[in-house]
Amino acid sequence: MGILFEVLSTNQKLSNGSIPPNIVSKDPKGLKITEKPHPLPAEVLDVGSGLMLKLPDENDAVELFRKIDSNRDYLRKWLPWLDDVITVEDELEAIRSRPSLMDSCMYAILLDGKIVGTAGINSFDWENRMFSIGYWLSEDLTGQGIVTKCCSRLIDHCFEDLGHHRACILVAVENFPSRAVPSRLGMSLEGISKDREWLYDHYVDAAVYAITKPDWRPIGD
Ligand SMILES: CC(C)(COP(=O)(O)OP(=O)(O)OC[C@H]1O[C@@H](n2cnc3c(N)ncnc32)[C@H](O)[C@@H]1OP(=O)(O)O)[C@@H](O)C(=O)NCCC(=O)NCCS
Repeated sequence: MGILFEVLSTNQKLSNGSIPPNIVSKDPKGLKITEKPHPLPAEVLDVGSGLMLKLPDENDAVELFRKIDSNRDYLRKWLPWLDDVITVEDELEAIRSRPSLMDSCMYAILLDGKIVGTAGINSFDWENRMFSIGYWLSEDLTGQGIVTKCCSRLIDHCFEDLGHHRACILVAVENFPSRAVPSRLGMSLEGISKDREWLYDHYVDAAVYAITKPDWRPIGD
């Protein structure tokens, strides 16, 4: 019988004041055999092909805002937050008040050093070792596999470095370019979640895709 894992809280605080859960390994008789703090997501991930994933800081606010603003109509069709980012100051505030890396982490996608979109973890469920992914890409750079490669790197990081077990992507059922991303990654369609997301003035159903670590094969360059 394998080692069982459970998540316990500790008194150790992160610099942002939150408390990371610990990984505690137990043998089948329940004896504690190791204890170590949970690793946090990396600040930067090299994807290859000139692509990097980087946690944005305040210096990235203007570039990120311009990319969002120049794709506003295109992104607004499927993403619910466009009306929250009307000015550079809104973007700056979003970066400043980003949640703890224990809860989520949204990376800027850099192509040859320039911001072209974002990809990241919308939410971590550490107790169940599960996470869900979100992304968008500048319209002029679609059709090159950029988001698929970035998601592959992200999933690999979460499985291999952070100890997660299950990756999910939820996509509006009629967002076919986005549904192709989890399919390309080898994820399975598990079902349709009814009225899963509110998009400005209506609900949309979501297709739920997932893959577990034993089935995972990263996408090569
Ligand atoms: C969803 C979205 C990111 C998909 O963009 P995309 O460019 O189609 O996805 P990728 O970057 O993975 O590229 C895949 C395309 O590149 C092609 N491609 C070229 N080289 C490739 C490679 N090495 N690997 C994978 N795909 C490759 C694929 O064939 C595919 O093109 P196709 O659709 O014509 O077959 C984009 O449409 C978007 O930002 N939409 C608006 C926001 C949104 O909907 N976000 C998701 C909400 S759930």
